[in-house]
Order: sequence, then structure tokens, then C-alpha cells
Amino acid sequence: MKAAVWVEPYKIVVEQRPVPKILHPCDVIMKVTTTAICGSDLHVYEGRLPVGSGLVMGHENMGIVEEVGAGVSMLKKGDRIVVPFNVSCGHCRNCNFGRTGYCTEVTEGYAGGAYGLGIGPYDGGQAQYLRVPWADFNALLLPPGKEHEDDFVLLSDIFPTGWHGLSLSGFQPGDTVAVWGAGPVGLMAAYSALLRGASSVYVVDRVSDRLAKAKKLGCIPVDFSKGDAVDQIIAQNGGMVDRAIDCVGFQAVSQDGKTERPNAIIDSLARVVRPCGGLGIPGVYTAFDPGAKDEAAAKGNILVPFGLMFGKGLTLGTGPCNVKQYNAQLRDLIISGRAKPSFVISKTVDIEETADAYEKFTKRVEGYTKVIIHPNGW
Ligand SMILES: NC(=O)c1ccc[n+]([C@@H]2O[C@H](COP(=O)([O-])OP(=O)(O)OC[C@H]3O[C@@H](n4cnc5c(N)ncnc54)[C@H](O)[C@@H]3O)[C@@H](O)[C@H]2O)c1
Ligand SMILES: [Zn+2]
Ligand SMILES: [Zn+2]
Repeated sequence: MKAAVWVEPYKIVVEQRPVPKILHPCDVIMKVTTTAICGSDLHVYEGRLPVGSGLVMGHENMGIVEEVGAGVSMLKKGDRIVVPFNVSCGHCRNCNFGRTGYCTEVTEGYAGGAYGLGIGPYDGGQAQYLRVPWADFNALLLPPGKEHEDDFVLLSDIFPTGWHGLSLSGFQPGDTVAVWGAGPVGLMAAYSALLRGASSVYVVDRVSDRLAKAKKLGCIPVDFSKGDAVDQIIAQNGGMVDRAIDCVGFQAVSQDGKTERPNAIIDSLARVVRPCGGLGIPGVYTAFDPGAKDEAAAKGNILVPFGLMFGKGLTLGTGPCNVKQYNAQLRDLIISGRAKPSFVISKTVDIEETADAYEKFTKRVEGYTKVIIHPNGW
């Protein structure tokens, strides 16, 4: 089969790989109909996560069940499924509490596993086929056919993650919300805030086509290349906001876009939120950064204004999304027509064009906000 494989920083090649096999009775093999490229893939692409050469990329995957292990009882060949980016066992303590992003059975010495990110031994789905472990637990069943394909693929990660970011912040209907990052996750957080009844939603970025998407949704775009975003929001809002969401993470850039500033977003969030408000931080921070500029950042030790956060009594939630906590309801919002997250998709490419798409996405080239791939054609 064809698969997009990470070789070294800034090098992905599409090569022939054997079709994955059932390794455990609870596995299924899925024929991938649609997979997507994520901002999290860029951390791998750019050498900012400790990943070995040869990993098949891709954690946002959906498709058709091709082969079923002997221990699988709820899925059959031909079923249409979407798979959370988290690999989880379904029976450890964290899984039992719905914290499937922190499964203790899937990665040696770590809580959590994921396809194509080097978190556990799981190849990704930017390929024609994918092995799905503990498939009864992990697969979300979809209506048969081809309808809503572009919406459903986003249930693997970014729609639940945007929704999760908002939940982490302690959001309640009527709140004012500021979202940092108008990438796919930021746009999903903003969209979720609108669906859930926010009174105003500010979205901060410096990439104009992404800010334009936020504006089209009904959000207030804030271009931080034109001046401090916190000042701009407080001036427009007539004061601080109730909730702020970090959808950027440790690779945040400075106002001119030239320097990486890993603490920039948390610093802004702490300033923009009113006393007793809340911060949601789904943007990624890593404790193992092989490409960090200094020793502290390599361990994820970044300077944050904790005194300010204490003084304001802010609450904070962070971490990988537990996709299974949200994906069934979000699927049903899509089916009923009340949510259409596919507005974020800007480009569809063939699997052979994957390397080129990574290069353009990493440079935030216009038109490359969210790229999807159909590895078996469409
Ligand atoms: N917690 C989770 O489960 C989870 C899941 C998916 C993605 N993520 C993370 O979410 C983050 C966003 O990913 P994405 O897919 O949206 O892609 P992305 O990386 O393209 O989005 C980041 C956006 O932030 C903007 N940005 C950079 N510096 C900024 C600053 N100082 N202020 C405001 N905006 C700034 C960029 O221009 C870009 O548009 C990444 O860190 C990704 O790893 C987390
Ligand atoms: Zn993702
Ligand atoms: Zn588990």
C-alpha cells in the first residue's frame, strides 16, 4: 500500500508499505477513505517531537472496516467508521472515567497513545490501510454511504478538540470568549463557542485567510501582527473576557512571525481573562522537544505569569482531548444538520502530494488551512 512516511525533519516520502495485519484479536483493519493533516503533525514534521524515522504519519482517520479480529463483536466488514486520534484500551482506570486521552495500557511508561505521532507503537493512517487496536471501543460507527464524509473525518480530532478546549475553560452560554489561533483547532473552538451560545467570540491570528474564515463564521477577527491582541480585545470588548482558549501551543510566534515564543499564548490568556474566569489550553506543550532553543524549553519548562493567575483566581484546563467523550454527540449534530464543521477544509490532495501539502501547511500558505487526503481515491 502507499503510505506517507516521516524520514527526518522536513522530509516526508510516500512509499510502498505492507498492508497492516491483525496483531491482536481485538484489532480491525480499516481501508482509509479520508485522512487529514493536523497542526500536531507539524510538530513531528519539524522535528519537535521525539519520533523515529519510518513512522507512517496521520492520526485523523476514517474509512471502511476491511478485516475483523476474532475478538471484535460490534463491528463487521463494510462498516463505515471514524477513529479517534487517541488509541485507548477501554478498560484501564482512566478509560473507565472517560479519560481516553490518558489510557495507561497503550504506551509503555506514558499515559495516552496516538496514531502516527510516535506516542506508542502505532503507525498512522495517511496510508491506504490502518490497524485499529481495541476496535470495538475505539471505532465510532457512521451511517453507510458517502454523505458528510468531510464533516465526519473531523470527528477524529479537531471538532472534539475545539469543543474540549471550550469545556476546559469552564465555558457557560452567554460567556465572552477569546480564541488564540485561527488554525483548524482554533476555528473549531470558535465554532463550538458559537454553537454553544457564546455572546461574543474573538479569534486571534496573523494569517489573513484564516482570520477571514473566523469572520465569516460570525467571530471578531483580531490580527496580532497589527498590535498586542490583548489590548485590541479589551478595547473592543469594553473589558476582559470570561474565557480564553489556547489553540496555538508551544510553537507560537512573535508579532512579526519571525521568532518562536513558547510562553506567548499562556501569557496573553492570563492577561485577557477577567478575575475568576477560565483558560482552556488544548494547544500542545511537550516535555520532550528535540528542536528546542534552550535546555529549559527542551523539557517544556516555560515562563508563565503564575502570580497574575493566582491573583485573578483563574482556573485552567489542558491536555490532549478525550475524543470519545464528545464524538458521538458531535456526529449526531452533523447528521441532524445542526453542525457543519467541514467549512474549515480548504484543500483535497492525492496521497502522492502529501509531502508538498506538509511543506505548504507548515508555511501557513493561503489555501492550506486544513488539507484532507483520500488515499484510495474518491
Ligand atoms: N489537545 C489536543 O488534543 C490537540 C489536538 C489537535 C491539535 N492540537 C494542537 O492545537 C494547535 C493548533 O493546531 P492546528 O491544527 O489548528 O494548526 P496550526 O498549527 O496551523 O494552528 C496554529 C495557528 O496559530 C497561529 N499563531 C502562531 N502564533 C500565534 C500567536 N502568537 N498568537 C495567535 N496565533 C498564533 C498560527 O498562525 C496558526 O494559524 C497545535 O499545537 C496542535 O498540536 C491539540
Ligand atoms: Zn490532529
Ligand atoms: Zn485505557
